[in-house]
Amino acid sequence: MIPESFPAYVLRKDDAGQTVTAKEELSASDLPDGDVLVRVTHSSLNYKDGLAVTGKGKIARSLPMVAGIDLAGTVVESSSPDWSVGESVLSNGWGLGEERFGGFAHYARVEGSRLLRTPDSLGPELAMAIGTGGYTAMLGVMALEDHGVRPSDGPVLVTGAGGGVGGFSVHLLAKAGYEVAAVTGRTSVHDYLKTLGAASIVERGELDRDSKPLESDRWAGVVDAVGGRTLATAMAQTRRGGAIAVCGNAGGFRLETTVFPLILRGVALLGIDSNYCPIERRREAWKRLAADVDRSTLDEMYETVPFDGLMACADRLMAGDVRGRVVVLVQD
Ligand SMILES: NC(=O)c1ccc[n+]([C@@H]2O[C@H](COP(=O)([O-])OP(=O)(O)OC[C@H]3O[C@@H](n4cnc5c(N)ncnc54)[C@H](OP(=O)(O)O)[C@@H]3O)[C@@H](O)[C@H]2O)c1
Repeated sequence: MIPESFPAYVLRKDDAGQTVTAKEELSASDLPDGDVLVRVTHSSLNYKDGLAVTGKGKIARSLPMVAGIDLAGTVVESSSPDWSVGESVLSNGWGLGEERFGGFAHYARVEGSRLLRTPDSLGPELAMAIGTGGYTAMLGVMALEDHGVRPSDGPVLVTGAGGGVGGFSVHLLAKAGYEVAAVTGRTSVHDYLKTLGAASIVERGELDRDSKPLESDRWAGVVDAVGGRTLATAMAQTRRGGAIAVCGNAGGFRLETTVFPLILRGVALLGIDSNYCPIERRREAWKRLAADVDRSTLDEMYETVPFDGLMACADRLMAGDVRGRVVVLVQD
């Protein structure tokens, strides 16, 4: 059933001690333990994948490692009572591509407890168009809702809006009735962001600067994919009782700020960890994604690259030259 060898993008250390990525042939015996073998048809390219395969970030916890934090495909072997051969499944995170071989391979062996059924209404390609980026955005929106941020409370801000997490955050918040201000550093994505539902555009430089401890309060809630000075400024501008879903660090991982937004306005920082999010929360997020994302809008939100085109696309992603999401067509 499974071919003797199959292609995979593998990270290894070269002779100079650098981590490099190469397309190699693996066999089933190279795959880790797990009770379900998946024939991967689609994956996606996330910021973290870009860091991993270009060597710009230390993502793999051990080497060799097959990259790819997302996968979708079909079960080809299973000793799990929960999964049968032929079922359409997906997985995001759970250490895929970091501590466990990931989705940039024709086959992946995974734990059945870490799989979800691919929603019929999406299928594997659209599920990966959403992928970790969209699922993380949904977790961010759910965190704001759980905190009690409502559309009637005022405008919400999304940073890194031209990217995957940001774009889905804009769309999901707009669909839920929020007035969304989208932060971007690219004029080329302004019209796209309006299509996703942004009511206004904020230039990146308005947030990516040194800020005062407290500034005019503008935002009832924030989904932040950027971190660094952008997050510090967003904190200083968040209204009393508001919250920030802290998702990413595309602009920097340091957070230099003061306690004033927290203790004088009761602003809450809500950390989002999509990687090890419990399965029940994942199911809820994916159910809502399948229901809430507009199909016609989703078509605008991704590009597809062939398996062979993955490395070139990773370079573009790291250069900030990708809009929205990237689906990797692993095999037909
Ligand atoms: N917490 C989690 O579980 C989780 C899950 C997924 C992703 N993440 C993190 O979330 C972040 C976004 O991921 P993604 O997959 O959406 O990446 P992405 O598609 O590459 O989007 C990142 C966006 O951030 C903006 N940006 C990039 N460099 C910047 C800079 N130096 N300063 C300010 N803005 C910058 C750009 O938006 P504009 O061009 O529109 O300005 C870019 O499109 C990453 O840090 C990623 O690691 C975290």
